[in-house]
Amino acid sequence: MQKVLLFSDPGIDDSFAIIYALLHPQIELVGIVTGYGSVKKEQATQNAAYLLQLANQRDIPIIGGAQGPLSGESVTYYPEIHGPEGLGPIKPPEGLKVNLLNFDQIYKIIDQYQNELIIVSIGRLTELAVAFILGADQMEKVKSFHVMGGAFLVPGNVSPVAEANFYGDPIAADLVMQRSIPLKVFPLNVTNQALVTPEVIQYISQTNATPFQPLLEPIYDYYLKAYKKNIPGIPGAPLHDVLTLSSIFNPTMVDYYYREVRVVLSGVAKGQSIADFRPKPDPVPEENLKGIAMKLNYELFLKDFVEIMTSETSNTTSTSK
Ligand code: RIB
Ligand code: CA
Repeated sequence: MQKVLLFSDPGIDDSFAIIYALLHPQIELVGIVTGYGSVKKEQATQNAAYLLQLANQRDIPIIGGAQGPLSGESVTYYPEIHGPEGLGPIKPPEGLKVNLLNFDQIYKIIDQYQNELIIVSIGRLTELAVAFILGADQMEKVKSFHVMGGAFLVPGNVSPVAEANFYGDPIAADLVMQRSIPLKVFPLNVTNQALVTPEVIQYISQTNATPFQPLLEPIYDYYLKAYKKNIPGIPGAPLHDVLTLSSIFNPTMVDYYYREVRVVLSGVAKGQSIADFRPKPDPVPEENLKGIAMKLNYELFLKDFVEIMTSETSNTTSTSK
């Protein structure tokens, strides 16, 4: 089993990623850090708790993340994409009791699992940056980092050049890009291609026999409608955050370019991700660089997504505490 600590902001595609993780026979989700992003931190926490409750997995720790970016700027949320509570038309039960753990719990988790642990970040990068600032030595024990964010030489999704997770906290994103070793980055170059169509969701929804089943079509439909409004004619909705997780188990799902990555901190290009793609006569060894996912094997992504979302084995049946 691969131990995964997830930094997230659920959010619809984060929720698909959490559901995917909970259904994956090879993933042991050892904690979820919930922070601001698609919705407020408090709502993200409630949504994560709701998904864990549905899965009967309330013993998975939820750790309180950030309420805003390192710059102190105010936060823009995206109800038009993720819904007022972050789950499209679904209203999670109000006031779900959450035993929200303090931030230092992440170091306890790292100590417990050491180099068996992969950190996957699918939201703004603030919490992960703070984890490096407060505990650089501890972070060296982590096996690897997978981060959804950025857009390299392609248009952004919140500005002409920037992707939402990097734009939301560019200072944090830049710090994480420099300090995470080894790191794989999943930018819009590949995640925009990870489209799931309504037909696929219908099939999954008809086949899935877990407590998540009633959520799948409503949250997807809301998310797709938002994408269709922005990009008329798009055949499906991109599950950015699912791809970032699923690539861990499918090494040939994406092709990586190995480069240094920097993020523009402010100004008109705020949040833009930059890597040097010029041919180099004397390239630095790959292990010293960041893997940037640039090409997706779509068939493999789709096959894996359908398989996991319809699998009969799941982690959703153990007794909750
Ligand atoms: O730009 C895509 C990212 O922004 C995803 O992580 C999505 O969940 C949103 O937060
Ligand atoms: Ca996200």
